[in-house]
Amino acid sequence: MFEPISVTREITGKGQNLLLCADGSAPLSGALAGYAAQAQCVYIDPPFMTGDSFTRRRRFGQSGWKKGTPAPEYPAYADRYGTRESYLAFLRGLIENAHKLLNQTGVLALHLDWRTNAYGRILCDEIFGEELFLNEIIWSYESGGRAKKYFSRKHDTILLYARTKDYRFDLRRVPLERTEHRKNHMRRSVDEDGRAYSEIKTGGKVYRYYDDAPVYPGDVWTDISHLQQRDPERTGYATQKPMKLLERILKPVVKEGDLVIDLCCGSGTSMAAAQELSCRFVGVDSAPEAILTSASRLACEDLAICCPCTADETRLEGVYTGEGGMMLLTGFNAQHPSFPRIEQAMDTLESWSAGHIVGDAFIVDQTFRRTPRNPELPLFCILPAGEGEPAVSTVDAAGRRRVYRWVFE
Ligand SMILES: C[S@@+](CC[C@H](N)C(=O)[O-])C[C@H]1O[C@@H](n2cnc3c(N)ncnc32)[C@H](O)[C@@H]1O
Repeated sequence: MFEPISVTREITGKGQNLLLCADGSAPLSGALAGYAAQAQCVYIDPPFMTGDSFTRRRRFGQSGWKKGTPAPEYPAYADRYGTRESYLAFLRGLIENAHKLLNQTGVLALHLDWRTNAYGRILCDEIFGEELFLNEIIWSYESGGRAKKYFSRKHDTILLYARTKDYRFDLRRVPLERTEHRKNHMRRSVDEDGRAYSEIKTGGKVYRYYDDAPVYPGDVWTDISHLQQRDPERTGYATQKPMKLLERILKPVVKEGDLVIDLCCGSGTSMAAAQELSCRFVGVDSAPEAILTSASRLACEDLAICCPCTADETRLEGVYTGEGGMMLLTGFNAQHPSFPRIEQAMDTLESWSAGHIVGDAFIVDQTFRRTPRNPELPLFCILPAGEGEPAVSTVDAAGRRRVYRWVFE
């Protein structure tokens, strides 16, 4: 029979990437302290002192993936700090940690909005040094409502600071797609090699712009929109940022194999971008929902997850035929007030992994998840013989994780 057990880590593959449920603003300690001076980029997209609570939408069971089926909402995190002082202490902690985690060529990207960017700029000037300021990027978008009593607030601010003057930044890694700009005020011509260009004379100087020369972004980005409601990239996490944005931030700064750390990782967008760029990653978030959303989004085969298990009365039932044998799940019935009417008890199961408990870690052998293409969850596997006790970890449809070890009766 299956018996609940608490583990400190869940490890897939060598566990070289990390998702850590922790306060990213607390003085560096434990696993995170081991990454001091290691990161090539630290990205932080903290709460913006909105006073709101945010949710994650989750599909429920096999039928939940059918088009048009509503996805229930579950709490993800609260952006409530009580006082400005407590918010500023939080922001300071994050920036100080970023400063400690970056290597000598590294860069911090701090993502804020109109509520907090002034504080962020002053804190970064103090902690990194004014001379290491690189950019105040304006990410401008159209989505959201329109104000009537002032101009609509339609941008976020991303502050870039270098750790030292020897920072790495290669703008050539982010060429813009060419669009036809009509430069009517410029003289058009073709040079002796047949290359078309526009030219303008100003202040006694001649400026020539070749049509085929690469164009790079400035510090105002208007070409990346927020994710649309039905965007396939969406995880259901309320404040998820677009991948395109994170790729533009990371690409000039990181190379293959570098380490990217996100101290407020949410749905894991920066980690997904780091994965695309063949970088290693550490994602930290104080909300278990964020860690588990990131884990299922990344489906990384080389990952350690440190996130508390839920302790409750939920029972896992099944059969294990013994070493190197079959593991079959037959019953799982988690409860949550937001769960829709249950068609099958197994609908409350969103994903599961089979593996072994070694010490205080769960070592994953294989993982099964519902996906848009395959909403039906396989319920059995052959678990190869391995060191430790056979075990299963589950994530339920409300995003809660539990681990069970198999005990022979
Ligand atoms: C704006 S969201 C990040 C969204 C993320 N960039 C994405 O694309 O999904 C802010 C995140 O900060 C997390 N957070 C809040 N307080 C935190 C803390 N003290 N330490 C770490 N994470 C924290 C929240 O749980 C939330 O997931």
